[in-house]
Amino acid sequence: MGKRAKITIVGAGHVGATTAHWSAIRELGDIVLVDIPETGDMPKGKALDLLESSPIAGFDANIIGTTGYEETKDSDIVVVTAGVPRKPGMSREDLLNTNAKIVRSVVEQAVAQSPNCILIIVTNPLDAMTHLAWKVSGFPTNRVVGQAGVLDTARFRTFIAMELKVSVKDVHAMLMGGHGDAMVPLPRYSCVSGIPVTQLIPKERLDQIIERTRKGGGEIVNLLKTGSAYYAPGAAVTDMIEAIVRDRRRLLPCSAYCDKEFGVGGLYVGVPVILGGNGVEKVVEIELNDEERAAFEKSVAGVRTLVQQLGLL
Ligand code: APR
Repeated sequence: MGKRAKITIVGAGHVGATTAHWSAIRELGDIVLVDIPETGDMPKGKALDLLESSPIAGFDANIIGTTGYEETKDSDIVVVTAGVPRKPGMSREDLLNTNAKIVRSVVEQAVAQSPNCILIIVTNPLDAMTHLAWKVSGFPTNRVVGQAGVLDTARFRTFIAMELKVSVKDVHAMLMGGHGDAMVPLPRYSCVSGIPVTQLIPKERLDQIIERTRKGGGEIVNLLKTGSAYYAPGAAVTDMIEAIVRDRRRLLPCSAYCDKEFGVGGLYVGVPVILGGNGVEKVVEIELNDEERAAFEKSVAGVRTLVQQLGLL
């Protein structure tokens, strides 16, 4: 008989709970929501509430909440959303030291229970946290991946669809670099049903859309005031979970370890990857023109500084 995938989500806050919601609806597996003891029975409450939606939504899954790690044993996937989100006026980089402590302790405890899992990191600053998780886990690089590009391209795709008044279904986009405001949307590799967006949107307008994409996280922070985005981030993580548990081999922008790839020299940064049952199956190297390469290198330099500040380089 088949066995459902076991998905642990650490951090039962906005992004964690939303990821659990999307994943349950898509029947990706059984779900364990984990948070800290200070949150009391909150993870249990969210898990039970979500489970009780299953007869209406029509999904079969076991969903439990806990403040310990025993119940997470032998998970196939561990998603890390534990940490502090930013508030208006903060950059993702401002979260570095606070979230590094949290991610270190979460990864140590999670991998002790699930030594064969694939780790999906969501906590910001994303690429540095993914690098830290990789170091702490001792896992091979393919089993540690960060979520950023799926969200950032979803924002880019949304804005392109709004601009052209076409279905989001027909809009594809690519984006590289670190998950900060220096991220590098790639209009040359973005299209509507195969037609490059550079042919459909005048350059000046496209530049504005690119700028809005880069600052897309901040736009939501400024609207919410109390925290950062979670519906689109949760949906993005869910796409990655699905690619792995269903071995779909999706070609998605993810934070993946690059050494020789793109000449990065040993860092986690956003690049196109094939995501499947083994995690990062392959980093897909694409041609970059001088302008794109310069923007990518600038973004990578920002990630390198953060990883150095963590003492990991
Ligand atoms: N172990 C487990 N959970 C933790 C830990 C820890 N050591 N420390 C904090 N948490 C939990 C908090 O108790 C909280 O429930 O992480 C949860 C975070 O939830 P929110 O505050 O709602 O933050 P959220 O919007 O979900 O963002 C989480 O994702 O997108 C990134 O920048 C964002 O780094 C942030 C993370």
